Amino acid sequence: MKGDLMVDNLIWIRGEIIRQSQATVNVLSPMAQFGLNVFEGIRCYWNQDKGELHAFRLKEHLDRLMLSSRLVRLPSPYTPEQIEFFMKTAIQANDFQTDTAVRMTLFGDGQGTWNTCEPVSMFIAPMAKSRTRLDKVPALRACISSWERINDNALPPRAKVGANYINGRYAHLQARHDGYDLPIFLGQDGKVAEGAGACLFMVRNGHLVTPPTTSSVLESITRDTLMVLAREAGLTVVERPVDRTELYLADEVFLCGSAAEISPIVSVDGYALGNSLPGPITVSLLKAYLAIASGENLDHPEWRTVVHSRS
Ligand SMILES: Cc1ncc(COP(=O)(O)O)c(C=O)c1O
Repeated sequence: MKGDLMVDNLIWIRGEIIRQSQATVNVLSPMAQFGLNVFEGIRCYWNQDKGELHAFRLKEHLDRLMLSSRLVRLPSPYTPEQIEFFMKTAIQANDFQTDTAVRMTLFGDGQGTWNTCEPVSMFIAPMAKSRTRLDKVPALRACISSWERINDNALPPRAKVGANYINGRYAHLQARHDGYDLPIFLGQDGKVAEGAGACLFMVRNGHLVTPPTTSSVLESITRDTLMVLAREAGLTVVERPVDRTELYLADEVFLCGSAAEISPIVSVDGYALGNSLPGPITVSLLKAYLAIASGENLDHPEWRTVVHSRS
């Protein structure tokens, strides 16, 4: 068995703290059968000096969870305030004093089908997860996927629904099969959308460019963070439709997300970008992002919530 499968953290589920291996879900639940769930992945960064664990942009993640739940008509039995409390309870039960990722999921429980609206249950599962190492920044080779991104009139990417990720699965596995690290999706309109689980930026002529939130993308919180940080650093940020060939000619391209943080891409469909190394703007945004998220940089205190501290 792989090491990561043997981790058996304490999770919060249906009002209880139990080992994740002890949590059960009906095999005939809409979640188990059809991927009917809405979820968030939230990163928490351990600040060694302060002895505190900071959840990054928790409020925005909770707000998006509520929007996803409204869109897919899977009503949340809990308020954002209650969920924040449950999340702290789960993290503290594990006494995580390290970088942590939290998966929180509202799901179609009981025995139902894809159009069932209740019962809805929730689990909150924290797990240790390190931040990107600045001395080991990834350099990824991407391809433009022949799989099209789901769109707003079929399976809205704006809602973070479990079943949406099967679209990412097709593209990701095809990209890996074809010898690339990851795919970049085009939307139904032929314009660049996003990665399989992360949004996209490119640098052209010194400007940061990203597809708008109407280009079949998740309304990414990291995307929003980076637009703020880039503007504060004096960069021009433009939201506009992006052609695939612009990626081939870009100086830099990177993906971003709570899980991905900032993932530099050094080639697209074999076109080398810049000097085939993570670009300078990408790396400076990664550094700025991690400093803010961990609280090493004290700017934007409204983005950090203390969820645990050294006992
Ligand atoms: C499809 C997709 N796009 C974009 C993102 C990035 O979103 P965020 O920055 O809010 O984590 C994610 C990650 O959650 C994702 O799954």
